[in-house]
Amino acid sequence: MMDKKTIAVLTSGGDAPGMNAAVRAVTRAAISNDIAVLGVRRGYSGLISGDIFEMNLRSVSSCLHRGGTILYTARSEEFKTKEGIDKAVENCKLLGIDSVVAIGGDGTIKGARDLSDAGVSCVAIPATIDNDVPCTDYTIGFDTAMNTAMEMVDKLRDTAQSHEKCSVVEVMGRNCGDLALHTGIAVGAMCILVPELPYSVDDIINKMKRARILGKKHFIVVITEGVVETNELAEKIYQATGIESRTTILGHVQRGGVPTLRDRVVVYVNGKVTDVDIHEALSMKKSFDEELYKTILEISI
Ligand code: F6P
Repeated sequence: MMDKKTIAVLTSGGDAPGMNAAVRAVTRAAISNDIAVLGVRRGYSGLISGDIFEMNLRSVSSCLHRGGTILYTARSEEFKTKEGIDKAVENCKLLGIDSVVAIGGDGTIKGARDLSDAGVSCVAIPATIDNDVPCTDYTIGFDTAMNTAMEMVDKLRDTAQSHEKCSVVEVMGRNCGDLALHTGIAVGAMCILVPELPYSVDDIINKMKRARILGKKHFIVVITEGVVETNELAEKIYQATGIESRTTILGHVQRGGVPTLRDRVVVYVNGKVTDVDIHEALSMKKSFDEELYKTILEISI
């Protein structure tokens, strides 16, 4: 039990580059304002099991530039139950935690809402490579993931170009096409498939056939995971065009790495760092930049 005001900080859900920078900022800002800080390991799981320790200024030394999260992370099924939340609330009370700062994506923010509805005040900081949090234009981790994906596809392009092949690349993003859209633009993809918009395999094939006639020698197709079975699409492209098509699933490489400058700073709306009520934030709908998508279709020929 502590006498002074106390907050707990945790990271939850899929890790994202820049989470450490956020943990560091929260810890140092709180201590500078004479607030005690407790670190919670493995997100809401640690809040339930009581895997909690006292942090000081030096607990967050040398983590700013590191990927992953020094607090570890987890996806807690138990926290989705009333019993789980009750245990977490009990631990917060026992340790005199006044507020919890939860750093993570959509699931983490929902967890923060549930915990705050159960009586523990919470702040959520959006951090996920998916950029799928509606109340912010940008989530911590997205920039690094885009740059990682871009770098990987640039390498794939070298070999696709040399062999005059098609490279079909699957990126992460869950139900959000932002990572595919922005990576696709940056690498000059011929086609970008995202969950927000319908697609037609025939259109992709016809576009490639036309481009081949116009002299295009190699192709890049970027897909958000889950939109289509990537190997099947590559096979269909090959069967219909004769262009050898290879697939690459980038996977977890997109979640790691040194955070970019942008990912060491916090949440934006119209270029400004801001805050939004947690219930309001969760009632918002994530928009997809269809205009940008259309523009890309015009230049990817
Ligand atoms: O939310 C981040 C994310 O990497 C998604 O893009 C992806 O769908 C999911 O997590 C993968 O989760 P896991 O690594 O637990 O399989």
